[in-house]
Amino acid sequence: MAMLTSTILAIDNHILMPQNHIIEHLRAHQSIRKFTTQAVPQAQLEECIAAGQAASSSSFVQVTSVIQVNNPSARASLAQAAGGQAYVESAAVFLVFCADLHRNQKICELEQQVIPTGFVEQTLIGTVDTALFAQNVMLAAQSEGLGGVFIGGLRNQPTEVSKLLNLPEQVYPVFGMCLGYPDQDPGPKPRLPVACVLHQDQYQAIDADSLADYNQTLSDYYLQRTQGKSSLNFSQHIIKTVTKEARPHMLPYLQSQGLVTR
Ligand SMILES: Cc1cc2nc3c(=O)[nH]c(=O)nc-3n(C[C@H](O)[C@H](O)[C@H](O)COP(=O)(O)O)c2cc1C
Repeated sequence: MAMLTSTILAIDNHILMPQNHIIEHLRAHQSIRKFTTQAVPQAQLEECIAAGQAASSSSFVQVTSVIQVNNPSARASLAQAAGGQAYVESAAVFLVFCADLHRNQKICELEQQVIPTGFVEQTLIGTVDTALFAQNVMLAAQSEGLGGVFIGGLRNQPTEVSKLLNLPEQVYPVFGMCLGYPDQDPGPKPRLPVACVLHQDQYQAIDADSLADYNQTLSDYYLQRTQGKSSLNFSQHIIKTVTKEARPHMLPYLQSQGLVTR
């Protein structure tokens, strides 16, 4: 249980603060998009999946399925479906995390029970549970020296992805995940100050000075990460990102899977 131990960090004989290794691990997160060719042992991957299963589950419904895609031509099609993300093909492991409401439907059918479907709430539960599961997998993999990145780009072409993976109704691909041994070290990306995301008692609008400081911090990070090619700050990033339509095909797609009809 080495991860659970705390040590006291001392610099110049001054005791600074207790270091919690799990928190250090969480805060060292960085997405990895370039991998070595080293294979990931299947037993190690399955340990990570079991760690994913250990995540909390709304009403203990366990509505996640993970599809490990090994076939090179399927990988190439998924890379294309995700908008041409080459690392979907090159990563040692590629997983598709699905919200799976089909399995419990089957379980009920075996007991001659019919369950009502199509509720937005069920899709929210499936999505939330799947994200918690996947984040555990990512953290477990990172603790084993692997790196990875989520691939929400699969939702660019969810119908094609569903056909390729033979997903039945009541199942949808929430995102993919590349895993492998890292061949880059971009460094953790600075987050908003805690005070901007932790509100006391009531919601507070973001404070302009904190935002300005954070804009500078992120801009400095990108300048360093891109060797001077980009100095994007957070406001610019958000304007670039959220002013576009957000995958409007998702509503009809989810409905075609029998989800989000009421
Ligand atoms: C649900 C989800 C989907 C994502 N989809 C993609 C993706 O399709 N391609 C990609 O390169 N990164 C993707 N990312 C990674 C984010 O870009 C990344 O987490 C973010 O820029 C913060 O960087 P960091 O993970 O290195 O801290 C995704 C992340 C999440 C949580």
